[in-house]
Amino acid sequence: MSSEHKKHYIVQPGGKLQGELRVPGDKSISHRSIMLGSLAEGVTEVSGFLEGEDALATLAAFRAMGVQIDGPQNGKVTIHGVGMHGLKGSDKEIYLGNSGTSTRLLSGLLAGQNFATTLTGDKSLSGRPMRRVTDPLATMGAVIDSDEGKLPLTIKAGNKLTGITYTLPMASAQVKSCILLAGMYAKGKTTVTEPAPTRDHTERMLTGMGYAVEVNGDTVSIEGGGKLTATSIDVPADISSATFFMVGAAIAEGSDITLTHVGINPTRIGVINILKLMGADITLSNEGITGGEPVADIRVRYAPLKGIQIPEDQVPLAIDEFPALFVAAACAEGTTILTGAEELRVKESDRIQAMADGLQILGIDTEPTADGIIITGGIIGSGEVESHDDHRIAMSFAIAGLQAGGTIQINDCANVATSFPDFVGLATKAGLEIDEFDV
Ligand code: S3P
Repeated sequence: MSSEHKKHYIVQPGGKLQGELRVPGDKSISHRSIMLGSLAEGVTEVSGFLEGEDALATLAAFRAMGVQIDGPQNGKVTIHGVGMHGLKGSDKEIYLGNSGTSTRLLSGLLAGQNFATTLTGDKSLSGRPMRRVTDPLATMGAVIDSDEGKLPLTIKAGNKLTGITYTLPMASAQVKSCILLAGMYAKGKTTVTEPAPTRDHTERMLTGMGYAVEVNGDTVSIEGGGKLTATSIDVPADISSATFFMVGAAIAEGSDITLTHVGINPTRIGVINILKLMGADITLSNEGITGGEPVADIRVRYAPLKGIQIPEDQVPLAIDEFPALFVAAACAEGTTILTGAEELRVKESDRIQAMADGLQILGIDTEPTADGIIITGGIIGSGEVESHDDHRIAMSFAIAGLQAGGTIQINDCANVATSFPDFVGLATKAGLEIDEFDV
């Protein structure tokens, strides 16, 4: 796996981003297409599937549980659904690499099976909090062993689940989805209330596959005992991957880039809203709906940015985009203040600390706080920064090269392959001077 070999990036200073490109498929939707396609009755055809390590970990998990899955080939995957009760226990542990989404969603889905499963992951995943899913699942009747709330998780067989009414302690689509997936196997109704809107891909895909989900403001409910019907799923390009190019174009003079067929689900567009508040020139065209998800082409042209106080209601809508947004803040005039984002400390790395440390090395004044950061725009210099094996930290420092005064070396970038295979190729095509080397 990626964590066993090391890859560094070297980015040369300057340049601008130009042209039209399509970034890989949405990670969240790719995971869900495998999970729900496997449980459906009939054959689900997926196109635009993300062939990154995280989504492939989910695919391998379902193969290990007896589902025939053809592909992926050029983003096409064919899933021969086994129905709600057709999964088979795997005699081996299921290794989920770096993927929090695989782990948390699978925990819910596995809680309702009549076989036991052990889930493991890499070093980063093994350090991430899992009580946020094991606690509500235990209330539903699941029996799960963990290492003090961390991986490995062993989800025991055959426990009867009962629907619960649960208020999420944090805004998390992974926890919401976990409980809804368990709810499909529970007796009665399961209701989840979220403190703020989070990505609703699970709800949309369940609906698209004929499983009724009731949405009432901040509350989602599902009745146990239903079934899913196979469908075709066109996965849009991932707005989280498009973000690196959006920010790159927003900070580099002369840039004009169009990202095509990007998912613009309202629960994911915080990055567009925040960049616009900072003064970015962003226009949408070719808006449409594909497989129940809104899409558009996103054009970003360079315009000077200014620092802002980021509205807290945008935080869950841009949760994966903050490392890149911190680079935008570093290039903006004035100070940017982020609050209400303590979840960033428990992502693939502590993203507040990782970005604060790296930006500081590059000469930018940063002040990390418990739930956010204060960044004063300035001149990005050169230096060697750590990605902490976090794909989004690595790609964020890569695009900082566009405004850097000298070379930036970014260490431990192999995990970029979890969400964005061929980032280096696409970034080079767009105008970034970036090389990778194995160490
Ligand atoms: C995801 C939800 C978010 C996000 C992650 C993908 C999902 O995590 O950060 O990259 O697919 O449901 P949280 O639920 O922990 O906020």
